[in-house]
Amino acid sequence: MPLVTSADMFQKAYKGKYAVGAFNVNNMEIIQGIVDAAKEEQAPLILQVSAGARKYAKPIYLRKLVDAAVEDSGLPVVLHLDHGEDFEICKACIDDGFTSVMIDGSKYPFEENISLTKKVVDYAHSKGVVVEGELGKLAGIEDNIKVSGREAAFTDPDEAVEFVERTGIDSLAIAIGTSHGAYKFKGEPMLDFERLQKINGLLPEFPLVLHGASTVLPEFVDLCNKYGGNIPGARGVPEDMLQKAGKMGVCKINIDTDLRLALTAAVRKHLTENPSDFDPRKYLGPAREAIKQMVAHKMKNVLGCSGKL
Ligand code: G3H
Ligand code: 13P
Ligand code: ZN
Repeated sequence: MPLVTSADMFQKAYKGKYAVGAFNVNNMEIIQGIVDAAKEEQAPLILQVSAGARKYAKPIYLRKLVDAAVEDSGLPVVLHLDHGEDFEICKACIDDGFTSVMIDGSKYPFEENISLTKKVVDYAHSKGVVVEGELGKLAGIEDNIKVSGREAAFTDPDEAVEFVERTGIDSLAIAIGTSHGAYKFKGEPMLDFERLQKINGLLPEFPLVLHGASTVLPEFVDLCNKYGGNIPGARGVPEDMLQKAGKMGVCKINIDTDLRLALTAAVRKHLTENPSDFDPRKYLGPAREAIKQMVAHKMKNVLGCSGKL
């Protein structure tokens, strides 16, 4: 089974009211843990690569590791560029065989975002590759002081319609209150579901994307902290909010921080309990297994995509 685009996956997810997980990959163990979970759960899967991941691993290593995972598992997998910041990186990934790219023009004014995104769409579509755009800015916790200021950066529903029409994108990342990393909310987690409902209503059957969607599972934060870590006050998106989003047109849910925490917790635990171990396989093996368990839990209990192949 070769790499696939997300077009059919999203159509099925939209109709079935569930979301497909898009997991960030940086090395072999992370890829194996995620793909093993998808195989066990018979779930659709998006593996995504950031510019930072390409720099860390070198593009060719991640590309070949993903090829190996696809061949080994026989699963239909989407290979996606996460947060492409310019036309050049999108083109490089398209030329390298990615089946999906994100052009993140969200930091630019509306018209500039449109023209950059459209340029990527024109090239990508000519090669059979799908494109995710972004409109609105994800809040950082430091921006979380004034609710009014935070909401000003959320995706405007009418602009979303215009953006989709004028760019020709295949999916749209929206800002409704999530943010990247382990510290997403200072107080109670809050997502703007009213806004999501409006956007979904104005763009029927169009796949929406939620970034910054890690739940920051307390079990992993606690494990990290128990074994010498210091991640106080971490707070993610509650699972029931993600389940709700999946029923409201959100077809792709991005997860990176949870992978990092699961891996780090397992490594910390193993090395603390086995201080004389220095064989990487001894601590990366349990880390891979922890990732597999965590991803399987998400697919089954949060995203609702288990058994949807
Ligand atoms: O949204 C960003 C992803 O978590 C990737 O992070 O740029 O550190 O690889 P990164
Ligand atoms: P988290 O770090 O919250 O998992 O977000 C990941 C993401 O949005 C990748 O694009
Ligand atoms: Zn993101």
